[in-house]
Amino acid sequence: MQITSSQLRQKYLDFFRSKNHAIIPSAPLVPENDASVLFNTAGMQPLVPYLLGEKHPMGNRLADVQKCVRTGDIDDVGDDTHCTFFEMLGNWSLGDYFKKGSIEMSWEFLTSLDWLGLDPKMISVTVFEGDENAPRDEESADIWANLGMPRERIAYLPAEDNWWAAGPTGPCGPDTEIFYWVGEGEPQGNKWTHSKEWMEIWNNVFMQFNKKADGTLESLPAQNVDTGMGLERTLAVINGKKTVYNTDLFENTIEHIKRIVGESHFNERGARIIADHLRTAVHMISDGVKPSNTDRGYVLRRLIRRAIREAHKMGHEDACLAQVARDFIHIYQDVYESVRNNETVIIDEITMEEAKFQKTIKHWIKEYFKMLDEKNKNLEFSQIIPEGMLLGDFLETNPHILKGEEAFYLFETYGLPIEMIIELSQESGMKVDVEWFSQSMQTHQDLSRTASAGMFKGWLADHSDVTISLHTACHLMLAGLRKVLGEHVMQAGSNITPERLRFDFTHPEKMTPEQIQAVEDYVNGALKAHITVTMTEEPKDNAKARGVLGAFWEKYPETVKVYKMVGDDGVTYSEELCGGPHVEESSKMGTFKIQKEEASSAGVRRIKAVLQ
Ligand code: SER
Repeated sequence: MQITSSQLRQKYLDFFRSKNHAIIPSAPLVPENDASVLFNTAGMQPLVPYLLGEKHPMGNRLADVQKCVRTGDIDDVGDDTHCTFFEMLGNWSLGDYFKKGSIEMSWEFLTSLDWLGLDPKMISVTVFEGDENAPRDEESADIWANLGMPRERIAYLPAEDNWWAAGPTGPCGPDTEIFYWVGEGEPQGNKWTHSKEWMEIWNNVFMQFNKKADGTLESLPAQNVDTGMGLERTLAVINGKKTVYNTDLFENTIEHIKRIVGESHFNERGARIIADHLRTAVHMISDGVKPSNTDRGYVLRRLIRRAIREAHKMGHEDACLAQVARDFIHIYQDVYESVRNNETVIIDEITMEEAKFQKTIKHWIKEYFKMLDEKNKNLEFSQIIPEGMLLGDFLETNPHILKGEEAFYLFETYGLPIEMIIELSQESGMKVDVEWFSQSMQTHQDLSRTASAGMFKGWLADHSDVTISLHTACHLMLAGLRKVLGEHVMQAGSNITPERLRFDFTHPEKMTPEQIQAVEDYVNGALKAHITVTMTEEPKDNAKARGVLGAFWEKYPETVKVYKMVGDDGVTYSEELCGGPHVEESSKMGTFKIQKEEASSAGVRRIKAVLQ
């Protein structure tokens, strides 16, 4: 069957409408009431409150097409299946049907000649093999078998593959995943996950549990179903393609990029990366994100800059991204109002960001060269890089080691993301001393930032005693906030100067005066107990398993630093993952006072506090 992306969206919604599902619109990419994630990374994210038990106004059976962004696999983009933006076709049961209903409907939609009509012989599935949290999912396996799925095409896999959770806490459960054969000849093998020849197209999650902050599972009020079918991947397999880049969502753009860079310079993977990143940028901007050095804006900036780099690598150094962005505006304007209404903003932002980076990257080369050879300091840019020479070629002929402090200087001075510095350097045979760089970062930053989430965790303005004391106070305060308000409180950002600490954290409502007082009391109680601060290094998994507080675990090295604050009363007032620095003991810290508590953004509160 040949089918377009628009037809597939339509068929999916029509099918679930015929099964009594209410069709709900896609939520924006930027979560409206959830400060713990930068973007919706799954179709279920906007529905979390309903999966946890709140009543949905549209009923117990819902279906939609949800825009999602995942940048965790950014290095895989350009292979056959990975994209940073994707649309997830989803259907939900909120305490209505469960495993049987869900699997039977998926099977019908995929294989019935009235719907997608895919060949059942090309399909395989996985189910949960069981562990201490939930039993081996024989129920799902039997349902599949009854539908005609041969037993040898049903693989039982561990939680790593077949347990789905949106994040460290929240609704979760075992799942069954559906794969389609895209290899040559007859379908083969018995382990579909992580195989290039079996493409995962649909994931049906049986959401029965809520994972709490302490790591334990509690049963949800209802047994829910959350399914997510990747539009891009499904479109590819229905049309007999091996890659999502060969579908109507990308095909013309890849050809367009070929015309822009010229056939002889063209590189398929590079073109896919440009297309993917621009498509994501178009949607991000359409939902209100602007390039910047923090949070969402940083992710967007990084995507645009990576796309520019790919164009450079193909020898194309003139501005070209707006042309590519227009292709995607054309494709999505009929699907998403946000794209239709924001054409000018999208093009302007991309054009400006591209121009800015073209300038930055030239500075970078110049600064880099200066670092290599002090005597070139006074040379003009054109004297350093011969006229007409491509930046990429220049880099290739100048392989050197880029020291951590140099990388750090480039980061600080020009805002060049470390990933970009590393990528540029690797491409040209240079090495970056990443370890030194991280140390520089850690002494300058309160915590770490995540590259994939792109979230900066704030800075210590200097290393004066008072700034370091305020940093220690931040840890105590976070522990106090979690004690007083609850374990949903997570750090969302911080900034510390000698004058005050500023601290953002997730919490849905204004704190009462009593709560503020209780948090102050907690911190001052710790100070009265003369806390001593100890730092230990331990394997990340250990710290995580022990329940040490921290965000963005995935971005920490295998060995992490944990700061523990214990009073002379033997109480542990705080234990948190951190890069430091902190005071050794609290005798000179004074008294802690919260000066202001206000809204920072949706679901995020901001405290300003001092030590006096
Ligand atoms: N939440 C699951 C996923 O994102 C199914 O929708 O894969």
